[in-house]
Amino acid sequence: MTPPAHQHPALQVTRLSAGYPGVLALEDVELSVEPGHLCALLGANGSGKSTLFAALLGLRRPFAGAVSIFGQPPSKARRHNLVSYLPQLDAVDHSFPLTVGQLVMMGRHPHQGITRRVRAQDRRLVEDALEQVDLQHLGHRTVGELSGGQRRRAMLARSIAQQAPLMLLDEPFAGVDRTSEELIVSVLHTLRDAGTSLLVSTHHLDGVESLADDVVLLHRRVLASGRPEEVLTEEQLAQAFGAVLASNPEGSR
Ligand SMILES: Nc1ncnc2c1ncn2[C@@H]1O[C@H](COP(=O)(O)OP(=O)(O)O)[C@@H](O)[C@H]1O
Ligand SMILES: [Mg+2]
Repeated sequence: MTPPAHQHPALQVTRLSAGYPGVLALEDVELSVEPGHLCALLGANGSGKSTLFAALLGLRRPFAGAVSIFGQPPSKARRHNLVSYLPQLDAVDHSFPLTVGQLVMMGRHPHQGITRRVRAQDRRLVEDALEQVDLQHLGHRTVGELSGGQRRRAMLARSIAQQAPLMLLDEPFAGVDRTSEELIVSVLHTLRDAGTSLLVSTHHLDGVESLADDVVLLHRRVLASGRPEEVLTEEQLAQAFGAVLASNPEGSR
């Protein structure tokens, strides 16, 4: 679906606070993703990244603040397929006996109406998505048979097949080998270059500079946001990750 013209950012978060009973996981968070930009959401474990995604999707009601996706509230944006979501690895149950092709076809559900009638176009888009993540030969395998990196790529293919103009990806690089990581980065850049807007969370410092157009550094609050070179300063990384990691970024893996 084509995003509603350029009068709105792909994503706008205003003074968002959110969390759990007795836990203020996010406080006064402000961020925006411009159409056609790839924005990295960088933060240590426990900094609030997954909670933010839940709030962005309307899965967790914020304590305060607002979320707008191409000018729409989350529920409406989801109904109109303006946004797709790749959940964090440990939020996905891969023990369910599903083939890779069936998993990726789930990305087409928003387009199929309640009858879920599979059209030739759906099949073609599933094939295309599998090819982009280099799993074209594994469509008939069950997801449980795949390696960690292949599973992550299969989940990414599901998001690609959904064709939403804003893609939210929660730690797409977690638990994947170097080859899969490089492939995923290149797929994300291709999507971005085709006009898709992306918010991609990661707790790995290395590679962020070449991954993203913009970086939001999160630690319950937004510590810094802007171009990678403005955000990825030693002082700001020390605040987000602690002094040890900032003086030795390779130690973040
Ligand atoms: N279901 C939950 N119940 C209570 N606290 C939670 C829950 N999920 C996460 N938290 C807490 O919220 C904070 C942010 O967690 P999370 O959003 O998962 O961070 P990240 O994704 O950056 O690792 C942490 O302090 C975490 O312990
Ligand atoms: Mg998380």
